[in-house]
Amino acid sequence: MEFLNTVLIVGGGGREHAIVKALLRTDRPLCLYAYPGNPGMENDGCMLVDTPIGDWKELADWSCSNGVELVVVGPEIPLCEGIVDIFEGTGIPVFGPSKAAAQLEGSKAFSKMIMEKYDIPTAVTKTFSGKTDAVAYLKKHGVPIVIKVSGLAAGKGAMVCLTMEEAEEAIRQIYDAKAFGSASSVVLFEDFMVGEEASIFVLTDGKNFRVLPAAQDHKRIFDNDLGPNTGGMGAYAPAPLVDAVLRSRIEKEVIRPTIEAMRKEGIPYRGLLYAGIMVTTEGPKVVEFNCRFGDPETQAVLPLVDCDWFEVFKACALGGLDKVKISTRDGACATVVLASKGYPGSYEKGKVISGLETAEQHKSDTDVYHAGTKRDENGSILTNGGRVLAVSSWADNLDDAVNAAYKAVGNISFDGMYYRKDIARKGLERLAGKM
Ligand code: GLY
Repeated sequence: MEFLNTVLIVGGGGREHAIVKALLRTDRPLCLYAYPGNPGMENDGCMLVDTPIGDWKELADWSCSNGVELVVVGPEIPLCEGIVDIFEGTGIPVFGPSKAAAQLEGSKAFSKMIMEKYDIPTAVTKTFSGKTDAVAYLKKHGVPIVIKVSGLAAGKGAMVCLTMEEAEEAIRQIYDAKAFGSASSVVLFEDFMVGEEASIFVLTDGKNFRVLPAAQDHKRIFDNDLGPNTGGMGAYAPAPLVDAVLRSRIEKEVIRPTIEAMRKEGIPYRGLLYAGIMVTTEGPKVVEFNCRFGDPETQAVLPLVDCDWFEVFKACALGGLDKVKISTRDGACATVVLASKGYPGSYEKGKVISGLETAEQHKSDTDVYHAGTKRDENGSILTNGGRVLAVSSWADNLDDAVNAAYKAVGNISFDGMYYRKDIARKGLERLAGKM
């Protein structure tokens, strides 16, 4: 009988579906479970955990009873809640940082303290707990300024304020409307950084690390980076913004010192370190750290990485990443997110999605990742979220990857489907020497 390695993936978005597809790209026989998972992960052979799970301890017990050998955690909330620590007693390796290490994302005040203490380049920042001091500082500093709540805020906790009206509205939201709850018990006021942002993903076992191809996200809802922020409307990799010289500066000035800092603090960081880097005229500076893969950048990065992900995730959890083979494919990948009309505001759910199989017919160069979908009783796939799907295509160059992704998108439809038409435009302009 064939021996299967059993893996549990925690999460149910496009990022976790991309992790499943990456795990399946090798010949290693795998038995995959997902909690909660999504219909796309299920179509790819993942079994969804069907036992009610009340907390992470119950998921740990379930994993022990079901022969799980490795857990891969996608989202930040379970990591910041300490899922890795909870699994520790089970002996099952978990890909992701401990609760203390996940503070790099979970507490912006902690993350800033690390950066300041270890001279990791970032924006000048002041931290306040009370409104009076915060308002006095804002008046003295003026705009532009970036106001950030320290805790997790579902991607909405960083407010770039270009006018005093915007800054005052941010203050109102934080201190009067209490829109961020306890996440805003500490608030950071950062100098506004001018530049372009890149997402740098780093796999680490706490000592050794590997930097994956740099990506760029498209945070705004409309073309040309207009409109409100979203969770991310598309991505591409490798980002031409991050050339070899810049990449090595980021590695030397940000990544290595951060991993060493966490070791020196006695809280080694294992898993995926995501550094949001602003490329300024003074060099790379950290916008923020996240303790997990980015979404949708993961959907653009993983198809370019050649490795046995089971082995890589396990090595990150247990050590020995230096002994694992990881290579990057030539070429590029582009990811287009398909959203429900109205997102990031209110939107309708339950629209029938058609064309998924046609879109994915070229499996050698295109993946369709489910994010906000559900299956109805007839087996049809319906929309069930703001970001519904992500379509990634890879090719020998970025131009071809973008064209292939949009061609695949052309096969998919649902009522109110919306997507940006300018994914990777900045990268293409840079490659054409126009930037
Ligand atoms: N794409 C941004 C994030 O994952 O936080």
